[in-house]
Amino acid sequence: MNIGIIMGSTRPGRIGEGVAKWVFEQAQTRSEVNYHLIDLLDYNLPLLDEPNPPMMGNYTKEHTKKWAAAIAKLDGFVFVTPEYNHSTSAALKNAFDYLYKEWNNKACGFVSYGSAMGARAVENLRLVAGELKMADVRNQLMLSLHSDFENYKVFKPSSHHEKSLKAVFDDVESWSGALKTIRKNIA
Ligand SMILES: Cc1cc2nc3c(=O)[nH]c(=O)nc-3n(C[C@H](O)[C@H](O)[C@H](O)COP(=O)(O)O)c2cc1C
Repeated sequence: MNIGIIMGSTRPGRIGEGVAKWVFEQAQTRSEVNYHLIDLLDYNLPLLDEPNPPMMGNYTKEHTKKWAAAIAKLDGFVFVTPEYNHSTSAALKNAFDYLYKEWNNKACGFVSYGSAMGARAVENLRLVAGELKMADVRNQLMLSLHSDFENYKVFKPSSHHEKSLKAVFDDVESWSGALKTIRKNIA
């Protein structure tokens, strides 16, 4: 099974990079599943510029095809999201909007950070996940800008977060396994 850890911030100086790398490091203890760290910056997606609705799967641009191929081969996701104006980043929302079937019938979990621990960003993302036919797990890891980062910049997670992250991994892995069956029946 292959699960993607998607880094939701593309901002210069983003603190999310430290978070996503730590999530990836923690994932290395999971022996049954391959985790992949996915940086949206590597895909350089402009604001959605496809002429056809993603539901049609008729992608015309090289950047869309590359992004679609990366997401298609994954069975589930852990989204690492900042909170911008009570929602996720525009970059992550844009990356969702590019595709459709590549997200469908896959599981996802969330790791969020912000002054209110990114809670509102995740509530917002759960609506997006529903529309894209993703199964979002209940467990989530919420990190505080005030107590999990030094000077609001350097990620220094409290040790109890490892347990919450493990719960996210457990759920995403079991649901990803279950949903594989559904995708097989559809194909
Ligand atoms: C455009 C913008 C809007 C923000 N809005 C919120 C917000 O609504 N709630 C919050 O807790 N933090 C908010 N913040 C603060 C971010 O949590 C903080 O800047 C964090 O470092 C962003 O993650 P990043 O550095 O990985 O991009 C906002 C930051 C930006 C840049």
